[in-house]
Amino acid sequence: MARRGHHLTEVALLASASGYLAAAGAGEREGWMDDPAVFPSLGPRARALAMASAARSVLVIVPIAGGGGVTVKPALGPDEGRISAVEWVPLAGDEAGGDEGVAVAVGTDAGWLLFYTLAGDLLHKQSIYPAKILKLNFSERKENAWEDSGSDELSVVFPGVIAHCDGDDLQTMLQKSFEEVKSRMWKDKFEHEDADDESSFGRIPIRIWNVSKFGSCADAAIVGLMPPPLLELQSSQRHYCAITVGEDAVVSAYRLSEDRSRSLVGAILSRGVAATFSTISSLSKILWRSEPSPTKKSRPKPQSFAKTSPLTCLKDTPRKGERLTLSPSGTLAAITDSLGRILLLDTRALVAVRLWKGYRDASCLFVEMLLNKDKESSSSMHLEHTKGDYCLCLAIHAPRKGIIEVWQMRTGPRLLTIPCPKGSRILQPSTRFSSSQFSSYSPLEVYLFNGDSGQLSVLNRHIG
Ligand SMILES: *[C@@H]1O[C@H](CO)[C@@H](O)[C@H](O)[C@H]1NC(C)=O
Ligand SMILES: *[C@@H]1O[C@H](CO)[C@@H](O)[C@H](O)[C@H]1NC(C)=O
Repeated sequence: MARRGHHLTEVALLASASGYLAAAGAGEREGWMDDPAVFPSLGPRARALAMASAARSVLVIVPIAGGGGVTVKPALGPDEGRISAVEWVPLAGDEAGGDEGVAVAVGTDAGWLLFYTLAGDLLHKQSIYPAKILKLNFSERKENAWEDSGSDELSVVFPGVIAHCDGDDLQTMLQKSFEEVKSRMWKDKFEHEDADDESSFGRIPIRIWNVSKFGSCADAAIVGLMPPPLLELQSSQRHYCAITVGEDAVVSAYRLSEDRSRSLVGAILSRGVAATFSTISSLSKILWRSEPSPTKKSRPKPQSFAKTSPLTCLKDTPRKGERLTLSPSGTLAAITDSLGRILLLDTRALVAVRLWKGYRDASCLFVEMLLNKDKESSSSMHLEHTKGDYCLCLAIHAPRKGIIEVWQMRTGPRLLTIPCPKGSRILQPSTRFSSSQFSSYSPLEVYLFNGDSGQLSVLNRHIG
């Protein structure tokens, strides 16, 4: 692999994929990736890149190792909105799943979620809540199997609302659709065109919470499980802590409660999936033929909100919280604001532990680095690094300064400053599948994608 400078290693030159990426706007003009309505997302183990464009209403998926990509034009009716978020979802939790075992989720600004295979087949479509999807995040929480850290989940952030979907429910549903798609492809290669109507899919159970007590949010995340409040020790309730950032409150925190005893999972899955394609596809075919765009039907009513309790809020007008990134364990959050500051928040204690100034339009990603480990690893080639060898850092991409900085957590020094060409974005593979005890620990990595040159590089994990 070609070296690129001292701290970045080139992984791929996606110029050969530019035919596909052009559908999402690549090459149209220099700096096309600076458009906030272009959504890049790196797949698990950085094997594929998804790129969506709201303006062009297109999703492109290109394999990093080369070969053909796929261009999807999501079938979105006039009331179903434009693409506003993209995320990768592992289909089945198994490590052996290979490249097939992933799906790409697309959210719209009217609150619809669509899931696609790598080949561009629609797996699932569901209305979540009638508002703009600001962020989709699939997180693996099973990593900390030694404590009840919850399960894998897909969280969906709207202005003032958070929805949450259990990873197992989601994967069960997607896996079944995936099998359906595969078997249908043998029968009739083109029949899947007819299944775009939501009624042909079951519903993935979700929970939604209203988190707008302190004002609507620009970004939010579920940071982990919380102990139950005092005097409320009933075990059927599970509580999450959510952090939101936004206009009126720079940072606020909520307890989200869900009643495990009223889980709808079993009922919905067995009813929904059993009836899926075989019985309904003929019906939806008729609807499709009579009206080329998805048929206008009354949209399912959003379900009612589960219980939310506000915990705390930090107001600091005129400052507005803009974006939020979580550390892998969820204990730290890096929050950017409208005045170019970056706040490091301890999400357990809900206190600010660090502040950087002068970083307008910055984006942050946590990353794990090896400090001063060079010598050891070269003397014993097969030394495998364990989680404990890595040091948690924060990578800050400051586009106005044209640099990426790497700071050691929580209070450590700045370790690196790397020049970063215009038109680039820092990216992180959505999931890591790192739980297997047989493979060595895969650290959290940061990639740099230069939209103009097509160069994808990874930040070297060794420092010093
Ligand atoms: C969410 O809660 C806030 C107050 O906490 C309330 O003003 C607002 O109407 C609620 N939103 C919805 C859609 O129910
Ligand atoms: C998604 O969740 C993971 C795990 O909780 C976290 O590390 C990551 O920062 C989150 N991503 C975003 C964009 O919030």
